[in-house]
Amino acid sequence: MKYPDIAFEPFFTWVNRPRILYAPGVRKEVGFEMSQLGGTRVAVFTDRGLVNAGVVEMVLAEIRDSVLELAGVFDGILQDARIEVINAGAAFYRSVNADCMIAVGGGSVMDTAKAVNILIGSGDDDFQPLADQAGLWEGARPLAPHIAFPTTAGTGCEVTSAMVVLDTIAKAKLSVTHPYCNPDIAMLDPELTVKLPAKITAFTGMDALTHAIESIVSTGAEPIADALSLHAIRLIFKYLPVAVRDPGNMEARGYMMLASAMAAMGFGNTMTGGVHALAHALGGIYGIPHGLANAIMLPHVMAFNIIEERVERFRMIADAMGIEVGGMEPRKAAEAAVEAVKGLLTTVGLTQTLKDFNIPADREALQPLVELAAADGQIGYNPRYMEEEDILTLYLQAN
Ligand SMILES: [Fe+2]
Repeated sequence: MKYPDIAFEPFFTWVNRPRILYAPGVRKEVGFEMSQLGGTRVAVFTDRGLVNAGVVEMVLAEIRDSVLELAGVFDGILQDARIEVINAGAAFYRSVNADCMIAVGGGSVMDTAKAVNILIGSGDDDFQPLADQAGLWEGARPLAPHIAFPTTAGTGCEVTSAMVVLDTIAKAKLSVTHPYCNPDIAMLDPELTVKLPAKITAFTGMDALTHAIESIVSTGAEPIADALSLHAIRLIFKYLPVAVRDPGNMEARGYMMLASAMAAMGFGNTMTGGVHALAHALGGIYGIPHGLANAIMLPHVMAFNIIEERVERFRMIADAMGIEVGGMEPRKAAEAAVEAVKGLLTTVGLTQTLKDFNIPADREALQPLVELAAADGQIGYNPRYMEEEDILTLYLQAN
């Protein structure tokens, strides 16, 4: 299709700080790269599942085989970056006298490591007051040398300067930003993702797709992010079904890792929107994994967002999905994009609704979710204003 007439806000900022190294097996470079950053004693941050699956050992072996000293492994990270775990992680880093950190894991691990690094940099013991500030930009300085190895292809948080933190007491997910919290280097090694179970491959991949789609239609949309997000959509539609079906397919795993990072470079600058706001609330109150919550909400919020000012953007999305949009009315193309997402969800085996999580379908019971979503920082980037009534309707549609 020809590039349509699309306006965007005339002012935007663009940040793309982390250096990316990509290759199957690129973990072999970890010693050299960390030394270049000035790190010598490494604290590794991860979770027990990845230790048990042997994925962490794939990185530890390279650390042992290098000039680096392994100060210790903190494997107590749980689903979502939790404030009490962040605080424990910082105490661990100090107790083993580390001077640099490596994160090996998905979004929860990488976000926890980012927050730990902020605590190390600030000299504080408790992340809660910092999380409450949300934007930690004033007087921010570079932090301890930090390399991240994502083990999922979805969150992309190895390239963003934001993290989502779970406040387990308030049961709320908070977005926190810091200009130096992203790793200095993101090492994209698709060999680390081959053991990922099909269902996690599927819903983390849907997280990446949600980033790309929300970025393109967000109120912060701009041409640089569009380029990254549109190509991420092309790659995800081609390779996510392959990665789910054939876990050892390195081409599919590699492209999914790149798509995830590209989508995150996009949304890291444009922000996301209603899907993320509604999904954060589902994660905060019901503990639904982030990618899965996005997957459930995505088609409903997309359909809600097909408004006059965004219809051409949805047509671009449909084109990137591989839909033949030439000669199609823009609105029809936009609707076809929603149907294509539903088709992809079925192909990758994600057919859950909110009912599967025992979420009641009545107004009163949904009110806490609605209020949490309405207060989420991402909702302001949704292209169509969401009243509480709209949020309630979307949750009911997803039930
Ligand atoms: Fe996300």
